[in-house]
Amino acid sequence: MKRVLKWIGIVLAVLLVAVVILHFVGKSRLNNAPEVVTKPVTVTMDETAVARGEYLVNTVSQCRFCHGDQLEGEIFLDGDLGSYVAAPNLTSGQGGIGATYTDADWERALRHGIGRDNRVLMIMPSNFYARYSDADLAGLIAYLKQVPPVDSNWEPRHMGFPGTLIGGLLAYDDLTRINSIDHTAVGGKSVPEGATAEYGAYMVSIAMCGECHGANLAGIVGEDGPPPGPNLTPGGELGDWTEADFINTIRTGETPAGRQLSRDLMPWPAFSQMSDTELQAIWAYLHSLPALPDNS
Ligand code: HEC
Ligand code: HEC
Repeated sequence: MKRVLKWIGIVLAVLLVAVVILHFVGKSRLNNAPEVVTKPVTVTMDETAVARGEYLVNTVSQCRFCHGDQLEGEIFLDGDLGSYVAAPNLTSGQGGIGATYTDADWERALRHGIGRDNRVLMIMPSNFYARYSDADLAGLIAYLKQVPPVDSNWEPRHMGFPGTLIGGLLAYDDLTRINSIDHTAVGGKSVPEGATAEYGAYMVSIAMCGECHGANLAGIVGEDGPPPGPNLTPGGELGDWTEADFINTIRTGETPAGRQLSRDLMPWPAFSQMSDTELQAIWAYLHSLPALPDNS
């Protein structure tokens, strides 16, 4: 009997040591981003650039969806999983990153998913923003640099157990985006604006449709994860829609079947401000996708 207890004790001790080691491995992985090639852009504060950035932030890329209505920041994890994660205050007010962030810092966070303190960002959808052209990204940064300052202090991110294990190891590639970005392919010229599938693919990426509708756009299921966005490929309901049906759905929030889309879960009120050309381009792209069955 004593021998058995002794062995159980040894096994438990070994497991405990393993968990402690994995905790530190996960923590270190989240706090120390690997070296990646970055592609800083030249930001000029001219009126056209700022106006373009304002449009991108408010209508297309939904920064306010997670960083708050005034970009003052928002809490994501507050003690759950022993961890604390806030989407930071992006303004130059007290507690905001705006006052001290350089153009290179902005580029690194947006297109590569790395924070200024070299931590690997979680939840922040940089995998979709990685598509940003240099000109659009420069406009986005120009706008962000001059938004009204808001005072709002958040603590720095703190990852504790079991968040370190989940975020740093088990769900690392779901929660962080660093490995799903081809860092060498980032940047470059803008896709010419027009009602083309190519421009639509660009818009779908920088509007992060895939964050809620799945990276392959065949939908998200699930209770605890992000809100379930339906299949947008021709394999879903959209297979029977016309271009006019699609544009009307985004403009009014009502589907051809008469279903009213939630304003809180699907940012259609913002997308409804897109131009006809942009919505036609998005439709052309969605329509060109293979008809995939709903993700399960
Ligand atoms: C789906 C939610 C979500 C959206 C949309 C989003 N963010 Fe974030 N962002 C976050 C979270 C959460 C963090 C903090 C991540 C962490 O600390 O691990 C973050 C971090 C950042 C950082 C890093 C700051 C630092 O501490 O170095 C910047 C910069 C940023 N976001 C800018 C933006 C901009 C600009 C947009 C719009 C183009 C945007 N975010 C859209 C959730 C989001
Ligand atoms: C923040 C999450 C989120 C983002 C980003 C998002 N969606 Fe949605 N979308 C949803 C959710 C959730 C629903 C279901 C809402 C409901 O039924 O009330 C939805 C529904 C839809 C529908 C209706 C589909 C159907 O079968 O009824 C369309 C079309 C749609 N989204 C298109 C888009 C497009 C195009 C983009 C990018 C430009 C996009 N969505 C970005 C969350 C999102």
